[in-house]
Amino acid sequence: MAKLWDKGYELDAVVERFTVGRDHILDRELIPADAMASIAHARMLARVGIIPDGEAAAIERELRTIAADALRREIAIERADEDGHTVIEARLIERLGDAGKKVHTGRSRNDQVTAATRLYTRAALLDISNAGRRLVELLLRRAQEEARTVMPGRTHLQIAMLSTFGLWLASWAEQLLDDLELLAAVADLNDRSPLGSAASYGTPLPLDREFVADLLGFRGIQNNVLAVQHSRGVLDGRIAEALAGVSTTLGRMAQDLIIFSLPEIGYVRLPEDLCSGSSIMPQKRNPDILELLRARAGTVDGYATQCRNVVRSLPSGYNRDLQDTKEPLMRALAAVEESLIVSETLVSRLTPDRDRMRGALNSEVFATDYAYRLVEEGVPFREAYRRAAAEYRDQAMPDPDEALDRRRSTGTPGTLNLEAARDRLAAVGTRSQAIANRHDAAVAALLGEGVTLRPQSE
Ligand code: ARG
Repeated sequence: MAKLWDKGYELDAVVERFTVGRDHILDRELIPADAMASIAHARMLARVGIIPDGEAAAIERELRTIAADALRREIAIERADEDGHTVIEARLIERLGDAGKKVHTGRSRNDQVTAATRLYTRAALLDISNAGRRLVELLLRRAQEEARTVMPGRTHLQIAMLSTFGLWLASWAEQLLDDLELLAAVADLNDRSPLGSAASYGTPLPLDREFVADLLGFRGIQNNVLAVQHSRGVLDGRIAEALAGVSTTLGRMAQDLIIFSLPEIGYVRLPEDLCSGSSIMPQKRNPDILELLRARAGTVDGYATQCRNVVRSLPSGYNRDLQDTKEPLMRALAAVEESLIVSETLVSRLTPDRDRMRGALNSEVFATDYAYRLVEEGVPFREAYRRAAAEYRDQAMPDPDEALDRRRSTGTPGTLNLEAARDRLAAVGTRSQAIANRHDAAVAALLGEGVTLRPQSE
């Protein structure tokens, strides 16, 4: 297939392998999104009178077939094709002749790849937000069930004060809500149309950028055409960073569960079918799922670092370096979505051993409570602290349920205030739904009812 920039010479094979990199593989994921953006672009070209309506309609029909083929994974991109944009344009020209040769009018691959990436990312972030919110909801539901399941809370990993399994579960729900709110902020930055920025400086054609943005369901255009190119890579990095926040939370939750499920501790049990065995030690049931959730936090953070370092000192305007932020972004999206889905299985199937948790309580856990009892009797805190340090071992352990009832201020083990988290969950859901409504309507209008932008996983 001829390259888009073909001027009658062959690229050196070693250079071609190097410059194409993994684009011919990655772009397979982006073809439906690329086709969608091209349909909007063609409709706009017809509207402003640059191409005839009939040609735009023919381009649109062919692009819909291309998207459908790509979703079934029936479109191949060879290294010699260079990228998905080339394959799409070549097929349009093969099927439509001159009409196909007009689709690239007023566009560069630079705004084309950014548009496709943003649409693909928008779809992926919506799926991630859905999975994230399902997990938060599950954590909150389980927190409610375990609101009175007393256990030792730890600091420095050592036994500290009275806690509940409910407090622990809800804490991860609330941390995930922080992560999802940050993700919603980067989703808003992503949700702007780059089209019309062309190579970095716009074009002298009367392109209607707002019309294209509207067709694609973006909340608007990204205004400055040069800023569009500057945000590529930077935005990829910010999205990956926000995703790393999610995977960090999941990794830390997993770390606690590794400890909680140690046979010596035994606060929770993992069902057998979630654990792998050892090839040598017959007795082993290993929490590999938890360890890999922990590892993914570092991996995803690495993707963010990769994006940040690629753009760190680029001069203004498009630079080919930006191609190298595509893969880390796509990998970060895939890794976090998978981690959320796995975490949902994990959290739904954990069995707490309530007796083991309760049995781990001892007078140490209540040393601080003892100091506060003295405070309530009028002893100044610092004095009560010293007395409690000397005396707590000799005190009868208080009734944990009564001790729990005494914790009445908001957000404490006795008063989880799960409603506050539920309100935030609803708000983050509303925000995501607003994007989803625009996204789904645009995909349906341009590619067809029931079409998604993400090819089935291989
Ligand atoms: N694969 C390229 C990228 O991701 C497509 C854009 C190529 N543009 C160019 N001017 N060579 O950036």
